[in-house]
Amino acid sequence: MANTLNSDLEGITVAETRLSQINGEKGELLIRGLPIDELASNASYEETVFLLLNGRLPTSEETDEFRGKLASHRQICDEVQAVLQRAAREGKPAMDALRMGVAAANLGVEEQDLRKDIHRVIAVFPTIVATYWRYQQGKEPVAPRDDLGHATNFLYMLTGERPSEARAAGLETYLNTVVEHGLNASTFTARVVVSTESDLISAATAAVGALKGPLHGGAPGPVLEMLQEVYETGDAEKYVRETLDAGERLMGFGHRVYRARDPRAAVLESAAESFHTEKGDGEFFEAAQEFEDVATDLLAEYVPDRRLETNVEFYTAILLDGVGIPKDLFTATFAISRVSGWMAHALEQLDDNRLIRPSSHYVGETKRSWTPVEDR
Ligand code: ACO
Repeated sequence: MANTLNSDLEGITVAETRLSQINGEKGELLIRGLPIDELASNASYEETVFLLLNGRLPTSEETDEFRGKLASHRQICDEVQAVLQRAAREGKPAMDALRMGVAAANLGVEEQDLRKDIHRVIAVFPTIVATYWRYQQGKEPVAPRDDLGHATNFLYMLTGERPSEARAAGLETYLNTVVEHGLNASTFTARVVVSTESDLISAATAAVGALKGPLHGGAPGPVLEMLQEVYETGDAEKYVRETLDAGERLMGFGHRVYRARDPRAAVLESAAESFHTEKGDGEFFEAAQEFEDVATDLLAEYVPDRRLETNVEFYTAILLDGVGIPKDLFTATFAISRVSGWMAHALEQLDDNRLIRPSSHYVGETKRSWTPVEDR
């Protein structure tokens, strides 16, 4: 069979999906056929996940039932808590702690059918992240409440206080916005794992590892630092030029698929605006908007043959900061949402599974012979 080398798999289609459709040229994203802006600002996270898993919006009874099902799987066992405590004590980053916690999330749980653990996998993510964070802050963990929705309960577990509706709604918009996005690196990772007929916890653990990197989910923390620095100096152009002159990448800009502004940026921009206005630091938000304009123009000057615009991570940083999520938890909060996309893809993969097994092109030496150790 003729073989072409595609080391980054760009433009290679390896799966059919009904979950999301991305138009990279126009900058459009549909989740199960619904435009992302419509879904993100109207749905609860539970409704979004139900839609992803079932292909239609739930009735109100179904939403309640689904919310209850997720809420009933939120607990983590003492041993997982101990791992998170140790990770916090050793100063491990949140994504490392999440990876360790997820990997152990079936401890104490009777072995389940491969497909039934899906609710547990989605439900434990916020508990793991919040438990780690409480230990990190030198505080006792806050047990999850089963009478709160997914987003509200996460904020509650972080602080021990029920969040305002505005904060919960801001987080919900964020969780809805980033829940699913085609065959990004972490989703592909999850599909590869389940294609071996491994299990969902293994898929989620591997996907957390893939999401951690700065080229994927690790960008929003550095974005916030960048914006804070520029807000203090007031000189966006200097910052951007220095970064690009040093051959570095500007965090929060560029995307493998989009050749337009990432449509999720607009959703998060308007959600972030309300927070920063409400918090009384609308000036910071406006400075970020100005930064976006300056950076987009300068990127066009420095990289003329590639359209580089804001990706999802730029306004993620500003929205999550407004909602009160600590910077060190930005990527883990991304994972709290995206795990549902991973799980939906895992089910799709299993519906019509064939082992994902690409090939490599050998470029090493040939025709060598064995050298005894005394002759080497
Ligand atoms: N800043 C400066 N230059 C950039 C940027 C950027 N943010 N992004 C791409 N470029 C330049 C590259 O330098 C490259 O030029 P070169 O080949 O001469 O070095 C050219 O544009 C093409 O870039 P590629 O590396 O081919 O683009 P790719 O599709 O691999 O990258 C990526 C996409 C990884 C997101 C990239 O744009 C980037 O590194 N952005 C910054 C990190 C970031 O924001 N990550 C979050 C991504 S969103 C998400 O995953 C949820």
